[in-house]
Amino acid sequence: MAPSPLANNHILRTREHEESKSAAAHHVPGELEKLAVRGRRLARLCRGCHRSPSPLGIAATADGAGSRILHAASSRSDAELSARGVGNGDDQAVSGGVSESPCLRIALVGAGGFGTYTCELIDRQPEIELVGVADTDAGKAQRLGNDRGVPFWTEHRALLDECDCDAVAIVTTHSTHRDIAVDAAAAGRHIFCEKTMAITVADCHDMVEAADTHGVKLMVGHKRRFRPASAAIRRALGTDGLGRPLAVNVRGFFGRRITGFWRERSLCGGLLYWAGVHDVDTLRYLFGEVASVYAVLGPKARPEVSDQEDAISVALTFQSGMVGSLQVSTFYPMATYQTAFGFDIVCERGGVSYNPHDLTITTHLEDQPPGVVRLEHNSPDGAYDREWSSFAAWVLRDEAPVLTGQDGLRCVEILQAAYLSAATGTRVDLPLDRNERRPFDDLS
Ligand SMILES: NC(=O)c1ccc[n+]([C@@H]2O[C@H](COP(=O)([O-])OP(=O)(O)OC[C@H]3O[C@@H](n4cnc5c(N)ncnc54)[C@H](O)[C@@H]3O)[C@@H](O)[C@H]2O)c1
Repeated sequence: MAPSPLANNHILRTREHEESKSAAAHHVPGELEKLAVRGRRLARLCRGCHRSPSPLGIAATADGAGSRILHAASSRSDAELSARGVGNGDDQAVSGGVSESPCLRIALVGAGGFGTYTCELIDRQPEIELVGVADTDAGKAQRLGNDRGVPFWTEHRALLDECDCDAVAIVTTHSTHRDIAVDAAAAGRHIFCEKTMAITVADCHDMVEAADTHGVKLMVGHKRRFRPASAAIRRALGTDGLGRPLAVNVRGFFGRRITGFWRERSLCGGLLYWAGVHDVDTLRYLFGEVASVYAVLGPKARPEVSDQEDAISVALTFQSGMVGSLQVSTFYPMATYQTAFGFDIVCERGGVSYNPHDLTITTHLEDQPPGVVRLEHNSPDGAYDREWSSFAAWVLRDEAPVLTGQDGLRCVEILQAAYLSAATGTRVDLPLDRNERRPFDDLS
């Protein structure tokens, strides 16, 4: 792979700043801390961390709104910091006492619900700096840009032209990931793409090829495999005497009223693309690659909720020969999204089960009493942090990544195969042909 465009790209960061961001990873920041981070970010921007803001960004500043918000945040933080006897990190950077370390400057494309949350995840990363935001919804772009004190755009190509970023985080509707990623790669930007990587394998291949061609790195955000439960299941499967896994069942029944782009197959892909995708990746993480897929859809009972299936059942055969099944439906009030997706695993001489309701992992060897481990939590926070720090380490120091575009592609392959199977009534073998037709057009 070609050398990172970051090779000579360092900015000065103060120890105080690093400590404040690392501290923020361990507690919920108060207003004062948030203002401090924002103030330092603004000072960096003033020193020229970005090239030129978009016409929209200039307009926002010219009408006063943007500059007022930014100025207020900056001066409050400086004043309050100084009242507490805490120096301003950027002043120190100018006057000495600094350490120099590389920083990954990232721009966010997609200022919706998860894009907004992604800014908080980036804040927790000592090596990553948010430097711009884009969203086709001008109001959302402006709101998040102003809130984070960074320039904003309404078009990702304009951001790529004008924002001095090393990487982009793609946090938009699934149907748009391909074009944004291909453009970002062509512009020499590394890519963190939220799951689901894209809607078709053809799009995923385009993204992987674009990254390879232009020598940039591409990570896909399948965080579930890093949550405590996934690690605990993996540990349990390693129990002496259990033998090989033979079969797995994942029950993804929960109650949730879906809104926004998730309701439309053309933007989202289908129920599996949002409610099953994390578990498809976790299954790969635990049991290896899938060899074939067979799927059926349940009756469409609630057209007012979405234009996708209300229930889907997927049978998987892994390359190891083990079999698996995954059922998903969102009309099951006995569980939430958080308490769904329990695992039952049959092994040669026993079994492992994960119950997300009480966070227990039970390992049961034949002729022995069961061993039960209760997790303290199954919070995604550590998983998000691990993804993001791995992305920074991959780009900045070429350390091995925890997830790549290939992981995203393999997942989409399984999803597309499931819908293809449901449309044709046949088992679908993997890998899929790159130009395999979109199965959705055949689904009612
Ligand atoms: N890893 C996780 O735990 C997790 C959780 C939630 C969402 N996500 C993922 O995050 C992504 C976004 O989900 P969300 O819940 O924030 O959706 P959302 O609808 O709240 O936000 C999507 C945003 O993208 C913008 N957008 C659409 N097309 C665009 C384009 N071409 N250029 C720029 N902006 C564009 C929309 O205007 C919207 O503001 C999806 O890929 C989703 O699967 C991941």
